Amino acid sequence: MSHEIKYMLNKQLTAIIEGEKNVIANLSNASALLSEQFRTINWAGFYLFDTDDNELVLGPFQGKVACIRIKEGEGVCGTALKEQRSLIVDDVHLFPGHIACDAASQSEIVVPMIKDGVKIGVLDMDAPVKNRFTEDDRLMLEEFVSVLLEHLNFSH
Ligand code: SME
Repeated sequence: MSHEIKYMLNKQLTAIIEGEKNVIANLSNASALLSEQFRTINWAGFYLFDTDDNELVLGPFQGKVACIRIKEGEGVCGTALKEQRSLIVDDVHLFPGHIACDAASQSEIVVPMIKDGVKIGVLDMDAPVKNRFTEDDRLMLEEFVSVLLEHLNFSH
């Protein structure tokens, strides 16, 4: 993904979410934007951290029906949250504990969403081919998440 495309994506995101404070509405449009702009993906969306149960719960997304709850440390999503770092999985079948929601998924990227040390959730994207996600995608999605964290008030 070129620098211009990265810039445009995050500019589009800012335009969509600024002026609207509803988190569900903004994350819904953010998942639609990811799904429109990334080629060769079959799932894009968010899991949000539920502090009552200490686990991730399915949030706004585009794609097939997905598993609802993921414990911290489980699957790619729970591992990225626990380790507080982005994970690129080139072949999900080789990731111990990978949670298969859509059987078509073959590779995955997860970016944790952490604001001022507080766990907010994760951004998750799946692809129906192996080796889909690059370091460039990681940098772009980390920037995408930082725009979201900066604009959205997750405590509401
Ligand atoms: N594969 C993820 C679960 C979420 S779905 O991909 C939408 C995981 O292992 O955490």
